[in-house]
Amino acid sequence: TISKIYARIVYDSRGDPTIEVDVTTEKGKFSAIVPSGAHHNSNECLDLRDGDLSKWNGLGVTQAVHNVNDIIAPAIIKANLDVTDQESVDEFLIDLDGTPNKEKLGANAILAVSLAVAKAGAGKKGSPLYKHIADLAKLHEYPFVIPTPFFNVLNGGIHSGGELTFQEFMIVPYGAPSFFEAVRYATEIFHILRNITTEKYGATAANLGDEGGIAPSLDTANEALDLIVSAIKGAGYEDKVGIALDAAASDFYKDGKYDFNFKSKNSNPNDYLTSDQLAEFYLGLIQKYPIISLEDPFADQDWEAWVKYFPTFEGKVQIVADAITATTPEIIEKAIEKKIANVLLLKLNQIGTLTEAIDAAKIAYDAGWGVQVSHRSGETEDTTIADLAVGLRTAQVKSGAPARSERFAKYNQIIRIEDNLEQYARYAGKDFHDSNKI
Ligand code: PGA
Ligand code: ZN
Repeated sequence: TISKIYARIVYDSRGDPTIEVDVTTEKGKFSAIVPSGAHHNSNECLDLRDGDLSKWNGLGVTQAVHNVNDIIAPAIIKANLDVTDQESVDEFLIDLDGTPNKEKLGANAILAVSLAVAKAGAGKKGSPLYKHIADLAKLHEYPFVIPTPFFNVLNGGIHSGGELTFQEFMIVPYGAPSFFEAVRYATEIFHILRNITTEKYGATAANLGDEGGIAPSLDTANEALDLIVSAIKGAGYEDKVGIALDAAASDFYKDGKYDFNFKSKNSNPNDYLTSDQLAEFYLGLIQKYPIISLEDPFADQDWEAWVKYFPTFEGKVQIVADAITATTPEIIEKAIEKKIANVLLLKLNQIGTLTEAIDAAKIAYDAGWGVQVSHRSGETEDTTIADLAVGLRTAQVKSGAPARSERFAKYNQIIRIEDNLEQYARYAGKDFHDSNKI
């Protein structure tokens, strides 16, 4: 039983406030911290911020903290819920809020409680968190699937100050024999990437973006991809490492077109691309580079382009839906019906409870989609998503660069899980799209 629930303000990797919740039971104290994205897409649940510009640039979470301490905590303790019964706890939280997007109590307040309860549930059972999550999801367990990591080595879009349009350029060591080796490949490639980038573009080109990758101010995606391909070759992993992109196209969608110069003052509407031209651009990149995955190629409002081009991309790369589906079961069902993608990006704080995130993943699996667990650009030392990826057998995970501790905390946790499981673990490797085959 829960004797205490307590929330406080701590900070994320951007230096913005966020919520940490401690749940105390007879087994001890279990804590969770929630992350925050740079995007607040309209389909996402509400990340409740104070909006008081005199403090934290309006990003304070004092109201959300009060909501935990003064509303959620007494109500949950009074209801005397079992911490291993995640579904009942999450239903209770959803009902207590009562709004579709969790705007009354705040999805950040609700998620922090939901995750701290999940950790308390694992603690009560004496199980590792990934195993508790696998039990909750009723997914078969042995061998556990260790996800193929997508490392964001080069940052653009709204995560960086440079000109580069697309948000994420990731390396994917699917040909490594284990997760541990995949991380080694990635760190070696990342060091080479830094060196060749500074040699070519000068020292400031190795400055970092929000997700810990380098953020050179390049004009084109081709220049970024050339650097990455050279780094992969330089490290000797040519046939073992693929490239993944997150265009985050909603951010450069303007008046029904796509503005590659959206961060520049000199952006000219005559240069905007139509969705057809943008699709052609992607196809050119896919032909030229070893790209295996493409996330958010079109804007979240541009369903038509998603529907039109998925059949063209299918078989060449996996198409990952992030902003358009926002980890929201009803929208995922629509996306499946309209055949817009074949991978769901799973972000806990887009939906706000663990149970709903598990439901979202299961809807995707039932349709034959893959699932990729994701961090947010504003992260912390909390490692819940590492256990989530293993517990849900998602076979793919992204947590930013192979550097910086808020990113590496998750990769390190997966290293630990793989190490502890020994022969009961299988690295997803090239089967990252089809964990059911493992
Ligand atoms: P965000 O970016 O966390 O800033 O939303 C991550 C992504 O787009 O995948
Ligand atoms: Zn994304």
